[in-house]
Amino acid sequence: MRRVFSMVLVGMGFLTLAASSGAESPAPGDSERRFVIAIHGGGGVRPRDEMTPELEASYRAALRRSLEAGYEVLAGGGDSIDAVEAAIRVMEDSPFFNAGKGSSFNREGIVQMDASIMDGRTLDAGAVGVVQRVRNPITLARRIMDSSPHVMMADQGALEFAKAQGLTIEAPHYFYTERKWESLQRRLRQGTEYGKRPSKTARITPDSHAFGTVGAVALDARGNLAAGTSTGGREGKLHGRIGDSPIIGAGTYANNATLAVSSTGLGEHVIRVVATKTMSDLMQYEGMSVDEATRAVIGQVAEMGGSISVVAVDQDGSVTMPYSGDGMYRGFVREDGVYEVRIYEE
Ligand code: GLY
Repeated sequence: MRRVFSMVLVGMGFLTLAASSGAESPAPGDSERRFVIAIHGGGGVRPRDEMTPELEASYRAALRRSLEAGYEVLAGGGDSIDAVEAAIRVMEDSPFFNAGKGSSFNREGIVQMDASIMDGRTLDAGAVGVVQRVRNPITLARRIMDSSPHVMMADQGALEFAKAQGLTIEAPHYFYTERKWESLQRRLRQGTEYGKRPSKTARITPDSHAFGTVGAVALDARGNLAAGTSTGGREGKLHGRIGDSPIIGAGTYANNATLAVSSTGLGEHVIRVVATKTMSDLMQYEGMSVDEATRAVIGQVAEMGGSISVVAVDQDGSVTMPYSGDGMYRGFVREDGVYEVRIYEE
């Protein structure tokens, strides 16, 4: 069921909710003050028959908290890049999504995380691959962007850089969730696609444990776009495997001239179509709208037997959240405080 609320800033950034209605196009009003943030908590949602009302309420609450964190930044006049980081940190701290605390395990039973962030105003970007123990990989990606001479770091060097930056480092058991552990054991026992016989060409159907990603895109009141993505990656992956999420132009892209976009899907497909940069190119060179460009690439991935879902926003504040499969954990909020959180077709 589609649910829409009006979100009102009260005092020092607290949010209250009241029933309202809205659509995905920008709200009318002063264009200089227009802003929006859209998020996803991954495609490959739980099948409806596994989704209890309590669980669904928990997912929706987590998505709402993420939107609130991003909205608070934007409503306070903050930058889109800060809103994206704030929103993603909330989902990384939740056990419900495949990122940060809720990350999937690789086939060795180890959590190795990927993340990236990009500023559409400057085309600055930061990314981290297969990093362990960092509580918020999106913040590490941001620090790599802001405080290192590099765009991308990985593994032990990235962990050392995170420590030097004073980021929160967790013991490995922080990342243990029973659901993800049991899922890995099942996958390894069955020898399924993601366990013993990984292939990049197999036709796959998204499932709630195989992969997932969190991401956010935002337009701030100054017209700047930003995007970020974070993930534990593909469950049962080989040790050292890096997916699309930390690859600028595959899992994440932002350019003020076109769009900000974060994808979720099987990295082995997303990387090979350079998905998010292709979306930007289709807008820039073919004149497509944000909705047309994202759907064109989703179609291209589908032809490869893959599956990709995205959230994206353009400079006019138009949001699109197309997905493959049964649904995508997703939501958005605009400057007027109207927000929506959706999981399935609603
Ligand atoms: N898109 C997440 C991954 O394939 O790692």
